[in-house]
Amino acid sequence: MSSQADTKWKGYAIRDTKHWDSFEVIDFNPKQFEDYDIDIKIEYCGVCGSDVHTITGGWGEPMLPLITGHEIVGHVVRVGPKVTAFKVGDRAGVGAQVCSCLKCKPCTTDNEQYCPNAVSTYNAKYPNGDIAHGGYSTAVRAHERFVFPLPKELPLEEIAPMLCAGITVYSPLIRNGAGPGKCIGVVGIGGLGHYALQFARALGAEQVVAFSHSSGKEKDARELGATDVVITSNKNFAEPWKGKLDLIICTADVSQGIPLSDFITTLGVHGRFIMVAIPDDQLPTLRSTQMVSNGALLGGSHIGSKKEVIEMLDLAVKENVKSYIEVLPMKDAGKAVRGVKDNTVRYRHVLKVDI
Ligand SMILES: NC(=O)c1ccc[n+]([C@@H]2O[C@H](COP(=O)([O-])OP(=O)(O)OC[C@H]3O[C@@H](n4cnc5c(N)ncnc54)[C@H](OP(=O)(O)O)[C@@H]3O)[C@@H](O)[C@H]2O)c1
Ligand SMILES: [Zn+2]
Ligand SMILES: [Zn+2]
Repeated sequence: MSSQADTKWKGYAIRDTKHWDSFEVIDFNPKQFEDYDIDIKIEYCGVCGSDVHTITGGWGEPMLPLITGHEIVGHVVRVGPKVTAFKVGDRAGVGAQVCSCLKCKPCTTDNEQYCPNAVSTYNAKYPNGDIAHGGYSTAVRAHERFVFPLPKELPLEEIAPMLCAGITVYSPLIRNGAGPGKCIGVVGIGGLGHYALQFARALGAEQVVAFSHSSGKEKDARELGATDVVITSNKNFAEPWKGKLDLIICTADVSQGIPLSDFITTLGVHGRFIMVAIPDDQLPTLRSTQMVSNGALLGGSHIGSKKEVIEMLDLAVKENVKSYIEVLPMKDAGKAVRGVKDNTVRYRHVLKVDI
């Protein structure tokens, strides 16, 4: 692929949310090239649960045609005149965000993922109206602040899912005190959850409890660092864990079906329940007594900052965090998104660019 801005870029798009697993190659124009922009020729892109929410219209009608994908890795093919940290030929990656205002309080305190003017990697518009397209494609363009340097020790395809799934669990783990002596729960062992178990262990947690509604993941969960595995479809699953956990990271992609009040009973005094999953519908209602009795804190978390991505990749190398991936050619994007929707992928599909 040429690196010139006026070249047509190509991606696998869906045209209709009713046919959300039907991808077709289209040409698209990237955003206007600016001084701090970097173009990356994509080699692999992971398939996130959020891609599925977007293509199915679960979060609302997306902009169509739509090219999803925000776990992007490849090599730099063009840098703007003011880019300092990358040069052509470098390995580089992009996660779920490609721009922000860079001036507000979140942006100047390493919280750029919470910028009110953040631009997501796909299904998003830049302030000038240019559309951001995702990584099921040949190339991506992003401001250098949102481009990550990648460690040489890890293969590109194994880094890809860390750039959304990995960072989305790493950030709330470190911001909520995961570490030695702590008992950490992870709800939902999927793309995000399989990293949460490993990062909780890598951060030195004493106990890591996997909560899964599936019965077939126990062996994997233990291999990933769980000291205990709890099957949440068993009634009274929470009983033995009452008051024991310091922190729960919830990645379970389900709304009304989540036994939220049971999870809250498993928290110790001022234990925290952090929601990272973004199911299509509302969560179950709670009575305040359910939080008051143990002083529980309920919160949420959105991806992570660039600073945290760099720390996370460093820890992944040092502590041998593994990506359990199934690589498919990008033309099989439909099969990959079905695998996420049907909860059959173990634990992340990564698409290899084939256009
Ligand atoms: N906050 C953020 O910044 C952010 C970033 C990325 C993704 N997300 C969101 O995080 C969620 C998870 O994404 P993912 O890529 O990890 O998806 P995923 O691979 O599909 O994993 C989700 C897990 O949820 C559990 N689950 C699925 N259906 C369930 C059901 N009916 N009842 C109970 N549990 C169920 C399953 O775990 P078990 O089989 O073990 O129960 C499944 O593996 C999605 O909502 C996604 O949009 C948020
Ligand atoms: Zn994601
Ligand atoms: Zn900002």
